Amino acid sequence: MKKILVIHGPNLNLLGDREVGVYGKMTLKQINSELEKIAKADKVSLEIFQSDHEGEIVGRIGKAKGKFDCILINPAAYTHTSVAIRDAVAAVSIPTVEVHLSNIHAREEFRHTSLIAPVAVGQVSGFGLDSYRLGLKAAIGIAKKTK
Ligand code: DQA
Repeated sequence: MKKILVIHGPNLNLLGDREVGVYGKMTLKQINSELEKIAKADKVSLEIFQSDHEGEIVGRIGKAKGKFDCILINPAAYTHTSVAIRDAVAAVSIPTVEVHLSNIHAREEFRHTSLIAPVAVGQVSGFGLDSYRLGLKAAIGIAKKTK
């Protein structure tokens, strides 16, 4: 069975309560259970990881080499700052799909740049829960094409 690593970055554990006008009312638990439903229907397995710590995310990506067929990541605030997460994605050569609940390009200027996007296969941004759903569907398509 193909394996996808799902990574949620900092503060995403606060979803449901955090800036609901921007991110909506869904909790991370609810998002994860939607992702699990899709994974089950499409017969892939997910490992889901959330961390507020850049080094933990870098470490998790580093350990994924050879073990996962695709990574689905919402790097949250680290999207805009983390050379280390970008380098980890580039280092493991696992195809990576970047997702954001909000449209980062329509928000404050500092959010317009993603350091991850140049090393990702693609980015889905601005569709709330559907960003994750679309991103996972893309990740599954990529994973199923790998040998
Ligand atoms: C986010 C967008 C980021 O700019 C922000 O720092 C987040 C969440 C999103 O999903 O819309 O924490 O990645």
